Amino acid sequence: ESGKLWGGRFSASTDELVEEFTASVDFDKRLAACDIDGSIAHVTMLARVGTLTEAERDQIIKGLKDIGTDIARGEFAWSNALEDVHMNIEARLAERIGDVGKKLHTGRSRNDQIATDIRLYLRNEIDELTVDLDRMMTALVDVAEREADTIIPGFTHLQTAQPVSFGHHMLAWFEMLYRDRSRLVDCRRRMNVSPLGAAALAGTRFPIDRYDSAEQLGFDGICENSLDAVSDRDFAIEFSSCASLIMMHLSRMSEELVLWMSQQFGFIDIDDAFCTGSSIMPQKKNPDIPELVRGKTGRVYGDLMALLTLMKAQPLAYNRDNQEDKEPLFDAIDTVRASVKIYAALIPAITVKPDAMREAARRGLATATDLADYLVEKGIAFRDAHAIVGQIVSHALAAGKDLVDLPLAELRQYCSAIDEDIFDQLSLEASVAARRHPGGTAPDQVRAAARRARERLQNT
Ligand code: ARG
Repeated sequence: ESGKLWGGRFSASTDELVEEFTASVDFDKRLAACDIDGSIAHVTMLARVGTLTEAERDQIIKGLKDIGTDIARGEFAWSNALEDVHMNIEARLAERIGDVGKKLHTGRSRNDQIATDIRLYLRNEIDELTVDLDRMMTALVDVAEREADTIIPGFTHLQTAQPVSFGHHMLAWFEMLYRDRSRLVDCRRRMNVSPLGAAALAGTRFPIDRYDSAEQLGFDGICENSLDAVSDRDFAIEFSSCASLIMMHLSRMSEELVLWMSQQFGFIDIDDAFCTGSSIMPQKKNPDIPELVRGKTGRVYGDLMALLTLMKAQPLAYNRDNQEDKEPLFDAIDTVRASVKIYAALIPAITVKPDAMREAARRGLATATDLADYLVEKGIAFRDAHAIVGQIVSHALAAGKDLVDLPLAELRQYCSAIDEDIFDQLSLEASVAARRHPGGTAPDQVRAAARRARERLQNT
């Protein structure tokens, strides 16, 4: 006899190497609280349908709760020989409350048990991640409102394109995260159904009430098919894909922050509390947080790939391969949560340097499009206007001046339609203010968009 909970048919004990290779308790013990919640719901249901007596139910629940307390206090001795979180807890239960503890696993398998545990665990993590995302989005809206009038050069191809409000830029980040949030909510909704009752794969002959245990655990319904219930992990893949998108967005923001904080851009500063120094170069103040977040993005993509690959050739129903779902999933959860959390704290620590932003916008002739649009308003076709302004741009670059600093006489050499009123339109402020449709960068529009963003956050 092997001495295992499943050891009845075995005559030899498990090889030590095998024990070490198959054990998951080191990483799945973080599911303990969910495992206990699932077990309590299961025995409560079993007593309701008459499979357990109420006295048995009460003893088991008390035992499980005591074990939960021990675990929370760090006073539980986990054993590799007991393989996983489920059997560690079940074995301890029988030690604590005697033979009645052996009834816990009636009409259940570790296969529906683990599928339940992960869903409960992930559901809670999604809820907490959503709270942190909301904090980060609120921080972005705060900056957007504060800096609606601050002008930064907008880029395409990382070449100066047109001036935009810095607040507008912050609200672009907001939109990315807002979609990420709705993807998480969607993922949670699809995931929140109960596998309990699927047992090993085929269901159970006990007169269980799957809706009862599902409701106790806060699930919105039950998995419709027992084979699918124990073998589905696409909720984990879906979450990791949501996490990957969040990290991708954070990584893009990180890249911008790193650039903006460089001496070459000099657009922003990040509070000392959120930067680190160099062990050799005394002058350094480095944006390590954005860099680390950018780096961690690769890990989460890797977690997603690991999970996709894990599932790709599994026949129905449960296979032990699935035990490999936990480390990538937990890593994706931990990484995305830590990244969003630190970003929620970092955003308010950003200060802007409007003079450097303005200077860069001017150096890049960011209002050239406005000059072309002006010519169109004077009756010139846009393509012709584009060509005329192209010549003026060459002239300005050669003279080392911004468009707005060229004398009227010089401008008129290229097009006699240009008048004194051009100078009102070539300033950065005028350029930004002119884009005053919804979704545009005019400061009033940015303030209105920020208000709507706040409302959307409150109504989600
Ligand atoms: N520890 C396993 C997992 O993580 C659950 C146990 C199912 N094991 C089994 N031999 N059927 O998926």
